[in-house]
Amino acid sequence: MRAAVVSSFSRPPRCEEVPDPAPTDDDQMVVEVIAAGLHPRVRSQADGSHYTSTGELPLVPGIDGVGRGGDGRLRYFVLPDTRIGSMAERTVIDARRSIVLPDGSDSIRVAAAMNPAMASWIALRRRVRFQPGQDVLILGATGSAGSMAVQIARRFGANRVVAAGRDPHRLAGLSRLGASDTVQIAGDADATARRLGEVAADVDVVIDYLWGEPTAAAMVALVTERADREKPLTWIEIGSVAGPTASIPSAALRAARLQIVGSGQGSVSTRDILAELPALAEEISRGTFQIDARSTPLEQVERAWADAAHTTQRIVLTP
Ligand SMILES: NC(=O)c1ccc[n+]([C@@H]2O[C@H](COP(=O)([O-])OP(=O)(O)OC[C@H]3O[C@@H](n4cnc5c(N)ncnc54)[C@H](OP(=O)(O)O)[C@@H]3O)[C@@H](O)[C@H]2O)c1
Repeated sequence: MRAAVVSSFSRPPRCEEVPDPAPTDDDQMVVEVIAAGLHPRVRSQADGSHYTSTGELPLVPGIDGVGRGGDGRLRYFVLPDTRIGSMAERTVIDARRSIVLPDGSDSIRVAAAMNPAMASWIALRRRVRFQPGQDVLILGATGSAGSMAVQIARRFGANRVVAAGRDPHRLAGLSRLGASDTVQIAGDADATARRLGEVAADVDVVIDYLWGEPTAAAMVALVTERADREKPLTWIEIGSVAGPTASIPSAALRAARLQIVGSGQGSVSTRDILAELPALAEEISRGTFQIDARSTPLEQVERAWADAAHTTQRIVLTP
């Protein structure tokens, strides 16, 4: 079969012939892959930088996808940490880590949206007790996961949704998706933090895809400008596009009822993640959320990798 193959962490994968995968226990099944998303997590898998990387090569990248099993049913599946990923004509899935999709589901949309949508859906359902009427700030709202977070926070009944991001064009588009205010991330971290302090100091929840210097500055600004420092503020760290570490002053944690939690593989159990997938897939299939996606044939995987570095669209490979 054909598959995207990573032979070196310093080169993008290439489409090559590889042996067909075979199940090794009764819970596994082979699926014909229909669509697999090129998420940031897949790029970090393929360049060896993700925290789960074992350094072993070669590997077929891809952490999730949509496929059809021998039972004829269409499924969305999440793979365990494996060297036989979803960017192949066929892969082996654990049926317990998959859900059957509603008839007529759009495989490209589901493969594109599940990963970025899952980030905020699971965070708001499993890492905080999010209540309708609460106010949310999204840091890094202009990416796929951020724009999903705007829509998902609204879907869960958020009152105000403040969206902060760099790209002015994408930021403007978030108002149509449900953002009540937007703050452009521009200039140095302190300048942005001051604007965030003016607009978003009293939010209940921060959904953070940035981390790094912008997060440290924003956290201080929000705590400082907060009208009621005894009102709980939960900061959910989900991504780190602006830096892997952030210098948080200890006073920020003492001076307000600030709680920092993370959400992702490990901090949420696989069982809890899987429990959320059917409802999320249902919403995505129904077209509740807008996702900017495009498909690329598996043979053009090298071009897809190059494009992914520049486009804001979520690329989906189709074997
Ligand atoms: N923990 C989880 O469960 C989970 C799940 C999904 C994703 N994630 C993580 O969430 C993050 C975002 O994922 P995604 O799917 O949205 O990726 P994406 O679609 O590639 O978007 C990333 C966005 O980050 C912005 N960005 C990059 N560097 C920045 C900086 N220094 N300051 C401000 N903005 C910056 C860019 O926005 P501009 O266009 O405005 O420059 C870009 O659009 C990644 O770290 C990903 O690994 C985590």
